[in-house]
Amino acid sequence: MKAIILKKNGLAESLIENLIVDELPKPEIDDNEVLIKIHYAALNHRDLWIAKGLYAGIKIPIVLGSDGSGTINKLGKNVDDFNIGDKVIINPSINWGDDESFQSEEYRILGMPENGTLSEFIKIDKKYVYKKPAHLELMQAAAIPLAGLTAYRALFTKAKIKKNDNVLITGIGGGVSTLAMLFAIKLGANVFVTSGNDTKIKKAVELGAVAGVNYKNDNWHKDIIKLSDNNINIIIDSAGGDTISKSLDIINYGEKIVTFGATTGKVKDFEIRKVFWKQISLLGSTMGSDSDFKNMVNFVNQNKINPVIDKVFSVDDVVQAFLRMDSGEQFGKIVIKF
Ligand SMILES: NC(=O)c1ccc[n+]([C@@H]2O[C@H](COP(=O)([O-])OP(=O)(O)OC[C@H]3O[C@@H](n4cnc5c(N)ncnc54)[C@H](OP(=O)(O)O)[C@@H]3O)[C@@H](O)[C@H]2O)c1
Repeated sequence: MKAIILKKNGLAESLIENLIVDELPKPEIDDNEVLIKIHYAALNHRDLWIAKGLYAGIKIPIVLGSDGSGTINKLGKNVDDFNIGDKVIINPSINWGDDESFQSEEYRILGMPENGTLSEFIKIDKKYVYKKPAHLELMQAAAIPLAGLTAYRALFTKAKIKKNDNVLITGIGGGVSTLAMLFAIKLGANVFVTSGNDTKIKKAVELGAVAGVNYKNDNWHKDIIKLSDNNINIIIDSAGGDTISKSLDIINYGEKIVTFGATTGKVKDFEIRKVFWKQISLLGSTMGSDSDFKNMVNFVNQNKINPVIDKVFSVDDVVQAFLRMDSGEQFGKIVIKF
């Protein structure tokens, strides 16, 4: 079977040599597993961090990829809730464990240390397999799992978002951010965004956001405060760094900041005084539990959420897809067609 194999880590320029489209044997399944023929995979920033060598516990060679959609190709002996040909998506959050509040020690994310979805076939335990949302094509469905799960837990499980909340979502071009925006808008929240690109802000407003500001302007946080009448009560952030420092100014007294990433690195100017004086809840969030995933898929089904797809690349152009993510040009999810 065809698979995209990361042979070595390195900088973006070396991706061409390090990410190879090659042949691997088709995986053998166990009794509780299914074999899925992947039709589409989608990239997450995690794949790029690993490819660049900027992730903990890297193991190579590896087939990356946490997001995938496809059809059931083979069933293990103990699998009776799926049929050959069923169109499915995969929950990439493996071994979450019993505690809803955090993941177990055995927790891992699909696509390292085990081979992931950037491959023609994948074997996976049936408990991580879900029917594809009926209103979505397989191409769109591939965009949902990792970003949808992360966005859902951050907004619903952690921030406990409600209708009419004023929510700031930073870096709106990102895969998780666009899905978080769609979820929050559907719930009836007022969504404000930031981006380094005015066209992306315009697109977000076309999709239902109230307004946005360009974070390349140093005073962007003051603009958000003005635009929202000093009334932001949830911030969803994966930029980290200076965005967190500014978020402490933006957020209302008694309200919540959810952090799930550090794209721009460490927070250098962290004023703890603002956290306690303003009674802010700073909430960490990572991926999500089995029930977060189930609830997310239900939300997507019930509300007919259509993820924002940036661009679809063929397997042979996978390096171009990684480079597009590295350049930050995307608005929404980058999808790979097998
Ligand atoms: N903890 C978890 O479970 C979890 C899960 C998923 C992702 N993450 C992390 O979350 C981040 C986003 O992941 P993703 O897959 O959605 O990535 P992505 O699609 O590559 O998006 C990254 C986005 O970061 C934004 N960005 C860059 N510089 C920024 C800045 N100075 N201020 C605000 N935003 C900035 C950009 O937004 P614009 O293009 O609009 O400028 C860009 O589109 C990554 O760091 C990833 O590792 C964590």
